[in-house]
Amino acid sequence: MGRQKLRRINQNALVSNVLESGKPLYETIKGNWNETYFQNNWPLVLELACGKGEYSVGLAEVFPEKNFVGVDVKGDRLAVGSKQAIENQLFNVAFLRTNVIFIEDFFAENEVSEIWLTFPDPFNIKQRERRRLTHSLFLERYKRIMRPEGWLHLKTDNQELFDFTIQELESFGICHLVHTYDLYQSALNKDHFGIKTRFEQIFTEKGFPVHYLRCQFK
Ligand SMILES: C[S@@+](CC[C@H](N)C(=O)[O-])C[C@H]1O[C@@H](n2cnc3c(N)ncnc32)[C@H](O)[C@@H]1O
Repeated sequence: MGRQKLRRINQNALVSNVLESGKPLYETIKGNWNETYFQNNWPLVLELACGKGEYSVGLAEVFPEKNFVGVDVKGDRLAVGSKQAIENQLFNVAFLRTNVIFIEDFFAENEVSEIWLTFPDPFNIKQRERRRLTHSLFLERYKRIMRPEGWLHLKTDNQELFDFTIQELESFGICHLVHTYDLYQSALNKDHFGIKTRFEQIFTEKGFPVHYLRCQFK
């Protein structure tokens, strides 16, 4: 492992805005995010597969009266968002290091108001579809932790993942689906608040359109 990666991972142990295995809150946070961590009653919004957390940090700035948790399995990436949040004095954003498949170990039924999936890995080979964060295996978990009428959002450049997701959502049972294959050219453009993730910047610079959808669970 590179030195920078290691330094970032070590940094996570020292800061309070990263929850990861071995830290006290990690085991007890489920159902207690607002009471114990944020200490307010604001709506709780998740960014799953947040990487370096640009979207979580960006949304936390735009919405000071919402709480945000960026989730990713890679600690060195989370460390970048954590540092940014500390530098910007954003107390309404935290980061959780876990595999999303274990999301119900950290969030109780109805604890979450909204979920953003930002450029999740496409896992394009057929046998790996079950690892897609929009596979029904994941959707059923999101539905259980989400409040009724909470929105699920997806941004991706990958059309195969996007089409797969629409099919998966429709057979899972959702409502109020809106979608576009070219977010920046659509009327929905304002709904992503102009915040670009790292991967979004890379793909848009290469000229790929961003696909976006949102829906609610039935
Ligand atoms: C393509 S990157 C996108 C990162 C960021 N959202 C962006 O747009 O810049 C996908 C991220 O998903 C994370 N990831 C993939 N599968 C995951 C899982 N099952 N649980 C947690 N994180 C996952 C990876 O570690 C990686 O950081």
